[in-house]
Amino acid sequence: MEFRLTEEQEMIRQAARDFARNECLPGVIDRDERQAFAYDQAMKLAELGFMGVMVSPDYGGAGMDTVSYVLAMEEISKVDASVSVCMSVNNSLVAWGLEAYGTEEQKRRYLVPLAQGRKDGRLYIGAFLLSEPEAGSDATSQRTTAEDRGDHYILNGTKNWITNGSSASVYLVMAQTDPAKGSRGINVFIVEKDWPGVTVGAKENKMGIRGSDTHSILFNDVRVPRENRIGEDGFGFTFAMRTLAGGRIGIAAQALGIASGAYELSLAYSKQRSAFGKPISEHQAVQFKLADMATRIEAARLLCLKAAWEKDNGLDYTMSSSMAKVFTSETAMWVTTEAVQVHGGYGYVKEYHVERLMRDAKITQIYEGTSEVQRIVIGRQVLKG
Ligand code: CAA
Repeated sequence: MEFRLTEEQEMIRQAARDFARNECLPGVIDRDERQAFAYDQAMKLAELGFMGVMVSPDYGGAGMDTVSYVLAMEEISKVDASVSVCMSVNNSLVAWGLEAYGTEEQKRRYLVPLAQGRKDGRLYIGAFLLSEPEAGSDATSQRTTAEDRGDHYILNGTKNWITNGSSASVYLVMAQTDPAKGSRGINVFIVEKDWPGVTVGAKENKMGIRGSDTHSILFNDVRVPRENRIGEDGFGFTFAMRTLAGGRIGIAAQALGIASGAYELSLAYSKQRSAFGKPISEHQAVQFKLADMATRIEAARLLCLKAAWEKDNGLDYTMSSSMAKVFTSETAMWVTTEAVQVHGGYGYVKEYHVERLMRDAKITQIYEGTSEVQRIVIGRQVLKG
């Protein structure tokens, strides 16, 4: 058993920490308030290689491991979870799926610029379109249809709550081709945002991660060339499940960062704020909170790193990624709530950051599979033995 990070992993963590402090912290409160997408920060992420962390250098990526990805996600999420979700979706839901299952032509055409995060000097990222107005947790109930017309498909339907909805150039869209086949009739397609019939719908006015652009996306008779289907006919649902297993490690790491960001702020605040004649950190009521925060965060970190390690070592990480996500997101909600409490009245106002972290934490229990869905996945794996 080896708990030490490699020199390269330490370097990546430091680079992400510097990026978060220097590029994300300035303006984070304002972006949250205005619901402004962090375009400049996303461009900088791309420049630093964080849009294609695990993608092979052969396809424009940084060629790093999943452990490094977790470390980078944690550091960025400590400061701005809106920036980190943009990074997470591009890395684990879009780039990973394309690299694992795309054809050589699909990889050259789409993966290379996605991993670089840029094309022609502009941001170039992706989005993952599975959720629908009536298909969230029940993901096999896809209403979006892709009618097979031989050399192309005709796509119709609506997708909801799409992260990177308006800033993405490329969408991976799950759609039902043959309803009689249920989940085996679902396909996944690479769709470009500017194709005729694609409309970016309303932007959601959200509780948290307000700096990420979440939209509905509408498809009206969109012609998708056959060569833009990923994998064999009917592979779409398996594609979504396998991709989400990795995505859940990214969201777990995001939740870990939100929790550790709130903890670090609470620790610092408790040392400089006095009450009853001494720093509040010297009151046992606060010390116990800090002790519980530190302990739960450490347990969450170990779950995230174990899931990442399993993925890096070619093991089945379905259960460990769900365990990491459910435990870490629940930890994030608990830690951030306590962080607001430690800060007292100051915690309830925006300048002290913890109220935003508390709002941001909530979504980690919902997206890329709710806590309830993670328990379904874990329960089934446990029963399989
Ligand atoms: N790997 C491979 N195949 C899998 C799989 C996995 N992890 N999980 C299921 N499958 C296969 C099953 O084997 C089955 O195939 P067969 O019919 O060939 O046997 C098929 O998929 C259907 O599976 P189930 O019968 O288990 O399906 P279910 O209806 O019971 O649902 C579920 C299972 C786990 C609840 C699944 O629907 C699920 O994960 N739902 C949540 C969806 C989700 O996470 N959405 C997030 C949206 S993306 C997002 O949030 C992105 C963002 O922008 C941040």
